[in-house]
Amino acid sequence: MKKVILKIDKKNIPIFIGDHIITKIDFSKYIKGNDVVIITNKVLAKLHLDKLKKSFKKFNLNTFVLPDGEKYKDINSFTKIHDFLIKNKYGRDLTIIAFGGGVIGDLASFSADTFLRGVNLIHIPTTLLAQVDSSVGGKSGINHSLGKNLIGSFKHPEVIIMDTSYHKTLPKKEFVSGIAEVIKYGIIGSKTFLKWLNTNAESILMKKKEYLVKLIYASVKAKSQVVQKDEKESGIRAYLNYGHTLGHAIESSKKYKGILHGEAVSIGMTFASFISAEKSTLSIEEFNLIENTLIKFGLPVSIPHNIPCAKIIKHIDFDKKKKQGKNNFVLLNSIGKCYITNSLDIKYIEKLVKSFQN
Ligand SMILES: NC(=O)c1ccc[n+]([C@@H]2O[C@H](COP(=O)([O-])OP(=O)(O)OC[C@H]3O[C@@H](n4cnc5c(N)ncnc54)[C@H](O)[C@@H]3O)[C@@H](O)[C@H]2O)c1
Repeated sequence: MKKVILKIDKKNIPIFIGDHIITKIDFSKYIKGNDVVIITNKVLAKLHLDKLKKSFKKFNLNTFVLPDGEKYKDINSFTKIHDFLIKNKYGRDLTIIAFGGGVIGDLASFSADTFLRGVNLIHIPTTLLAQVDSSVGGKSGINHSLGKNLIGSFKHPEVIIMDTSYHKTLPKKEFVSGIAEVIKYGIIGSKTFLKWLNTNAESILMKKKEYLVKLIYASVKAKSQVVQKDEKESGIRAYLNYGHTLGHAIESSKKYKGILHGEAVSIGMTFASFISAEKSTLSIEEFNLIENTLIKFGLPVSIPHNIPCAKIIKHIDFDKKKKQGKNNFVLLNSIGKCYITNSLDIKYIEKLVKSFQN
């Protein structure tokens, strides 16, 4: 079992990574009182909840099961969770366990941050994306009808458990979508790691446990180092948005249907790398390594032809991370060396979007 300590908000948050580790964790160290509520969805409840429950035999355990899907990361589910917690008369010593992918993680952590002004939280992420990205760094939230993740807070858990055995049941498409974020850590932080991913794509796609542990550990370390330096995204945390400006615009244009987050980010990372090679000093050899790694994992690198270019441009213009009326693109001087620019001409982006459509 591997361990990373995330030092943030005057807290040392242990992150445990390993195969079949869920039954080996002594949760009593991270639980204040006797009451524990697991928040999960129907898919996870059917597949893995019975086993997880065994780890909380000592506690007064309850579960709250939501339907599956991004559309349930909303104010309605948030209210239902609070209704449940209030009706059951839980107090401030409650511990909430977020058991699921990023949807459950974001919703359960926002609930834990707001119920009685904040109760204990434990993350048990079950998708690759939730393990390498959403469960680390404290962003909690729900969607608003006018946009994604517009309501939320920063809420850090007591502990995060990343068990690679959950990947056995994770659909391949979801797994590969998570890989895009893993590749991102290579692109923005380490050419050696990116090359390792490229060389070992086959074993990773076979979900060999030692490879999964290694890539999750490297990703979690990379994300922890960034959020420790810049929790509230006023500086280098923005580098984690590499590929996300176009990625978000593609997701929004498709109304978050028919494309997964990692797939959109993969296209966005290829796009940002292409601009970096044209406008900056990223070498063609490094651009090729980035594109080839994404392709090896079966990730898309061109924009679907059925999305009108005008829609994408409109959404780039509405990106919520846009500052002072300018678009922010994270670009590369070389692999591992990012910078942010807001000086890209929208006409240039428009021309490039058209040339990136398949
Ligand atoms: N907080 C953050 O910093 C942050 C960062 C990135 C993304 N996010 C959010 O994360 C969400 C996306 O997360 P996601 O990609 O994990 O999607 P998700 O939570 O919808 O999970 C994807 C699918 O996999 C299923 N699933 C989960 N674990 C499984 C398992 N072990 N076996 C079988 N099926 C399983 C889920 O039921 C769902 O159908 C979005 O809402 C996004 O906004 C948050």
